[in-house]
Amino acid sequence: MITIRSEKEIELIRQSGRILAGALRLAESRIAAGLVTGELDTEIAAYIRAQGGTPAFKGYNGYPANTCISIDAQVVHGIPGHRALQEGEIVSVDVGVLLHGYYSDAARTFAVGAVDAEKQRLMQVTRASLDKGIAAAIEGNRLSDIGHAVQSHVEAAGFSVVRDLVGHGIGRAMHEEPQIPNYGVPGQGPRLKEGMVLAIEPMVNAGGWQVRTLEDGWTVVTADSKPSAHYEHTVAIRKGAAEILTLE
Ligand code: MF3
Ligand code: CO
Repeated sequence: MITIRSEKEIELIRQSGRILAGALRLAESRIAAGLVTGELDTEIAAYIRAQGGTPAFKGYNGYPANTCISIDAQVVHGIPGHRALQEGEIVSVDVGVLLHGYYSDAARTFAVGAVDAEKQRLMQVTRASLDKGIAAAIEGNRLSDIGHAVQSHVEAAGFSVVRDLVGHGIGRAMHEEPQIPNYGVPGQGPRLKEGMVLAIEPMVNAGGWQVRTLEDGWTVVTADSKPSAHYEHTVAIRKGAAEILTLE
């Protein structure tokens, strides 16, 4: 069952998402060669707490950090630590915030200094594929219209969408029904209704879609070691156009 949220609940998710957007803006301002990922993780957590929220990932299924920071061939769930960012890398920062019992979830990929043309295009295409997915997330459409919109955009650009990980409903828990694949045929699955709140999150690989998980049990990397990008917003389904809830 996909929960329909009241306007009051959506306002609480919006407040949570506002803190999250600020945390990602902080990340953007700090990303530079030499930045140690564990230090960024600590700074983001301090920011979220100073705003009255709680970093939502820490302890989730035993996850050891506050955020996920995934570099180059790391797709998602990279664990922040001693690694320092280097010029030319792309780094995905994924953050969850819990506020007053409601979760928000969002991610962006940043360039560390100058990056090569393929990484630049990968970031642009992934960001645009999220926009396409959000544009399909309107009342009356069906769930698979979202993934179809993402996949069509990504594959037209010559990249591939990760199949093993999905977007999700969100609200009182970080992961709620439904699962939202970033691929598929249109017109399938439940009809989208105003008040549903979804985390839409394309993970896009420059090479093939296949991924594997490292021995740390978390870090998902591309099988071919080519770079990957990840953008995510939490949105509320509306009539006409979805409302992005992870904005400042
Ligand atoms: N942001 C991830 C998602 O969208 C969740 C991170 S998993 C965690 O599903 F363990 F790090 F929390
Ligand atoms: Co998510």
